[in-house]
Amino acid sequence: MKQIKFFPQILFFIFILFSICNAKDKKSNLYLMPWPESIQINSGRFLLSKDFVISLNNENENLFKSAQRALKIIADKTGIFFENQFPKINSSEITSLNVNIKNVEDLKLGLDESYDLEISQERIIINSANQVGAMHALSTLVQLIDSDSNGYFLPSVQIIDKPRFQWRGLLIDVSRHFEPIEIIKRNLDALAAVKMNVFHWHLTDDHGFRIECKALPKLHEMGSDGNFFTHEQIKEIVEYADERGIRVVPEFDLPGHATSWLVGYPEFASAPGPYTVERNWGIFNPTLDPTNEKIYEFLETFFTEMSTLFPDKYWHIGGDENNGKQWDANPKIQEFMKNNKMKSNHELQNYFNVRVDKILSNLNKTMVGWYTDEMPDLSKDYIVQAWKGRVSLYETAKNGYRSLLSHGFYIDLVQTTEYHYLNDPIPPDSILADSVKEKILGGEATMWAEFVGPETIDSRIWPRTAAIAERLWSPSEVNNLQNMFERLDKVNLQLETYGLTHIKNYEMMMRRITGNYDVEILKNFVNAIQPLYTYSRDHPHVFKSFYPLSRIVDISQPDPKPAREFKFLVNEFLEQKSLDQKKYNSIKNQLECWRDNHIKLLPIITKTPILKEIETLSEDLSKAAEIGLKSLDILLNNSKADEKWKSESNEILNSIEKPRGEVELAVKKSIEKLFQKVE
Ligand code: ACM
Repeated sequence: MKQIKFFPQILFFIFILFSICNAKDKKSNLYLMPWPESIQINSGRFLLSKDFVISLNNENENLFKSAQRALKIIADKTGIFFENQFPKINSSEITSLNVNIKNVEDLKLGLDESYDLEISQERIIINSANQVGAMHALSTLVQLIDSDSNGYFLPSVQIIDKPRFQWRGLLIDVSRHFEPIEIIKRNLDALAAVKMNVFHWHLTDDHGFRIECKALPKLHEMGSDGNFFTHEQIKEIVEYADERGIRVVPEFDLPGHATSWLVGYPEFASAPGPYTVERNWGIFNPTLDPTNEKIYEFLETFFTEMSTLFPDKYWHIGGDENNGKQWDANPKIQEFMKNNKMKSNHELQNYFNVRVDKILSNLNKTMVGWYTDEMPDLSKDYIVQAWKGRVSLYETAKNGYRSLLSHGFYIDLVQTTEYHYLNDPIPPDSILADSVKEKILGGEATMWAEFVGPETIDSRIWPRTAAIAERLWSPSEVNNLQNMFERLDKVNLQLETYGLTHIKNYEMMMRRITGNYDVEILKNFVNAIQPLYTYSRDHPHVFKSFYPLSRIVDISQPDPKPAREFKFLVNEFLEQKSLDQKKYNSIKNQLECWRDNHIKLLPIITKTPILKEIETLSEDLSKAAEIGLKSLDILLNNSKADEKWKSESNEILNSIEKPRGEVELAVKKSIEKLFQKVE
């Protein structure tokens, strides 16, 4: 194997890195995510047994239910038949686990979510300001369950924890593809498990009006294809979230993204109807008419009814991507703008926002909206959600508005976990003044739903959102990637506890395609690919809302773990000074598997037309693996490559660049790295 050149500085750097990793290693058998603010590991352990008893010092129902859920999770995980199947309430009797809260509080932005968790050999104590802190402590406790030949236990630790940011959310778009109530519930469970505290519910858009409105029934009756949440279901979700310490912020996107509003009420559009629910993806013209005085009565009726369903103070009005085309083309609107000395559509939108704000403030609601290029002239209570770039996050905060970061947390774009994880709203080297930093409330992952349906949504949200949860909860210095991935891997499995299908649907969808129980051969291929960056997906297909989401691109995972592990292995192999036989063998075995896979997959592809689109990519994986194997061999023998082979291989690797079936090889760069080391 070739000697890889080292310089003294590099050695020093590696030494420092090693020291840091080593310090972290001491804690690396604790698979906590998000990582707590402070943790001290003591010797000893608390052994779980059938005598385990939880006592709560309060009778708060949400506290009781969360303790009950924790007990059930522990029982299911360990198989222990607990004699006390229910926590004791209003009890300060010393038992295995005592939960002490100071007060019961309603959920609100800025609530004290801190907690202390002390586990010793004898007992466990949780102290927190309120029931929400205690819920977070219980989420931590569940992640600490470990086992060995002596049984199940919790390691002795002392944790003092609180979130770095007060707004840690996930947006789910239920308009573009409807996501039924059980999907929302299991995702709320998962959000609570990683201490997220906001569910941003994107309920209306061009493609569907997803909420019942009794006063204006044509909204959901004509705008939803029958797929909407009833009042009872909304209440059920809001309560379910509340029980888990999660605020629900509804979004009714206005004045653009409004087609579904106008199917039943075309009189409020800025251009004559009729309108039909949108079936294509993109940005569309239908926009509410802010110059129609009646629209404000209409919105007041709608908002008043909705305000009975959503208790949270914050209310998202969208405000994004109004292309202004209907406004430009409408002489009545142009006249209104002229009479009111409005020079741009931004000014008209601002007028609309101010009117909407008035209705909402009468309902005791505070508006949240997407960042628009010109800042609105609204009260400083308004919260701006930055999605186009992080500069807008700082700009709005400097202008005195509170702001949220979503740029870099667009999980629908299927970017890597690493990218999202390192997307710190306030990086350690930030030079922002403290008064500006204070305005940055946190952030939200956004699950836009052009390319997800009920079967695939969990796999697009998880596990990457757990890494985002850590970015928003944990101290900024918690940013070691290797350590994060080790923990994420375990937390990923833990999330299945809540019924998420992000792991199990992977093989299920392959079984459906192949009509076979054994999907190993197809899986070998899918493990090595990734879906194309979402904004590049509209070729050769132009997507519509009812198109299938069951193809290989939908099964393939963003940031696939096998490809990531292969990358780490190749990097480690190339960085080492002398041969590590184990690493060498792992790389070789993996490459041989990929090299030989196409010939096995071909007969399956031949009789499965849905797979035809990836046939040449599968062939290319084999070719790339063959180049990788030869490169590995040359590196091992310290020999020189034949120039003809090098130039042919280079050509092959370049031709592999092209995606097929909207997927690409996720392992190509690692194979190229091996090839490029060859001289
Ligand atoms: C957005 O992504 N249009 C907020």
